[in-house]
Amino acid sequence: VMKILVTGGAGFIGSHTCVELLEAGHDVVILDDLSNASGTVIDKIETITGKRPAFYQADAKDRTVLHEIFTAHRIDAVVHFAGFKAVGESCHIPLAYYRNNLDSTLALLEEMAQAGCTRFVFSSSATVYGPDNAIPYVETMPTYVATNPYGWTKVMIEQILRDYCTATPGFTAVLLRYFNPIGGHPSGLLGDDPNGIPNNLMPYIARVAAGQLDKLTIFGDDYPTPDGTCRRDYLHVVDLAKGHLKAIDYAMEHTGAEAFNLGTGHAVSVLELVNTFMEATGVNVPYVIGPRREGDLPQMWADTHKAETILGWKAEKTVADMCRASWNFVCSVKKQLCPVRNRNNKTAVSLRDGCFCCLHLVDPGGAVVRDRLPVHMGEQRDDRADAADDIEQRERHGKPELPVPRQGGHMLPLRQKDIERDDRVPQPALSEAGGPRQQCRADHAEALLCEQPQRNGAQQPGGARLATPLHN
Ligand code: UD1
Repeated sequence: VMKILVTGGAGFIGSHTCVELLEAGHDVVILDDLSNASGTVIDKIETITGKRPAFYQADAKDRTVLHEIFTAHRIDAVVHFAGFKAVGESCHIPLAYYRNNLDSTLALLEEMAQAGCTRFVFSSSATVYGPDNAIPYVETMPTYVATNPYGWTKVMIEQILRDYCTATPGFTAVLLRYFNPIGGHPSGLLGDDPNGIPNNLMPYIARVAAGQLDKLTIFGDDYPTPDGTCRRDYLHVVDLAKGHLKAIDYAMEHTGAEAFNLGTGHAVSVLELVNTFMEATGVNVPYVIGPRREGDLPQMWADTHKAETILGWKAEKTVADMCRASWNFVCSVKKQLCPVRNRNNKTAVSLRDGCFCCLHLVDPGGAVVRDRLPVHMGEQRDDRADAADDIEQRERHGKPELPVPRQGGHMLPLRQKDIERDDRVPQPALSEAGGPRQQCRADHAEALLCEQPQRNGAQQPGGARLATPLHN
C-alpha cells in the first residue's frame, strides 16, 4: 500500500485516478483548490470506493500547505494534475498560466526534496508534440515547439523534470502525454464538468444532446482527412486513470525522466464522434459546419507501443463506450438537479447550465410560471426552493429579473414547448405531493430523469430514478 498525493484530484482526470488508486488499495491525499472543480467530488469518490481520501483545499503553489501535507503524511509518490488547461484562455492570460503551472510544479519538487519523496507522475499532453511532428506521435520525437502558452507550460515542465532528474540521481519523473480523454465513471458520478460553455468537443456534444445548448458547430470540414473534419485520438478517462497506476508502478522501479503516450492509437474524426454518440445513446445532436478554429491541427494520434510494452498499459474501451459514459454523466447531473417544490406549492425545475442552474418555476399543471433565474450551482435543495420563492416575489412586485450571472454563465430559458414535446429536455414529473406519480416520457430514457416534487425540500428515499434502464 502506497500513499499518493494527487494534486488536482477533484478534477476530471484526477478524480477518476483517485478512484482507481483507492480501488487498488492505495491511500490517497487530494490537494485541490476547487477553482475548476466541486468539493462534492470528494464525496462522490467516497461513494464509489467506500473510502474517503484526505482532502486539502488549497493551491498547489502554497508552500505552507505543501509542507503541512508532507509533514502529516509519508507520501510515496505525487501525481500532479493541478494546473490551468484552457488553450484559448492561455493566449489571453499567459502570465497566469506560466505562474500557476510552473510555480506549482517547482513548489512540489522543492517540498518533495525536503521530505525525501522521489516519485513524480506528471500530467502532460500530446500538445507537446507541436505542429511539426509527423503522425502518429512517438515519444522519441522532439517536443520543443508548442502552439499556445498552455502547451508551452507542458513543454517547459517536461524540461524542468528532465533537468531535475539528471541532477538528482534516484528521482523519477513519469511524463504522461494524454491524447483526448472523454467519458466518465460508470457510476455516472464523475465526468468532465467544465464551467460555462465547454471548449472541448465531447462536453459540448453532451450539452447539445441534453438540450442545454442549441447545436454543435464543427470547426471546419475542409481538412486533408477522409471526411474533412479533424481527427483525434479519443480515449476513455477510466482507461487513462488506470494508466496512472501503471505509471506509479513503473516509477517505483525506475529512476530518471521517461515520457509515455496515453492514447488508443486510433484516430476518430469530429463527424465520426458525433455519429457514434448519436448511435450509442439514441439522442440527436444537431450540428452545423463552421469555419476552422485557429490553432487546430488536422489530425493526431498516439503511437502506443511504448506504453504497451514498458508500462503494460493499453486502452480497452471503444468510442461508443466513451460516448455512453459521457452521456450517462450528463444525465446523472440532471438527476441531482431534480424538481424542487417551493413553499407556495409550485415546483422549481432546475436545468444545469455551466456553473449555474436555470431555475424554472412550474405550476402543478406543468405551465412555466416564471422562466429563468440564475443561481449558483444549486447544490442545496433549500436554496433552490428559496430561489423559487424569490422568483415569485419579484414577479408579484414587478421587479426586474435578476442580472445574468458573471463569469460567462450562459442562460437558456426553458420554454413551455420544451416541457411538452421537446424530448431533448428532461420532463419533470409533476403531480400533487402524495398523488399519483406522472409517467415520464421514455423516448430517450437517459435524458428523462424524474423525481416526485417534495415538500419542505426533503428528499424522498429512492426518489430519483431513471424512467427506463440505460441502453446496453
Ligand atoms: C485541446 C488542446 C490540448 C488539450 C485538450 C484538452 C491543442 C492543439 N489542443 O485538444 O492540448 O490537452 O484540448 O483541454 O492545444 N471541435 C469542434 N467543435 C467544438 C469543439 C471542438 O468541431 O465545439 C473540434 C476541434 O476543432 C478539434 C476536435 O473537435 O478538431 C477536438 O477538440 P477539443 O476537444 O477542443 O480538443 P483538442 O483541440 O484536440
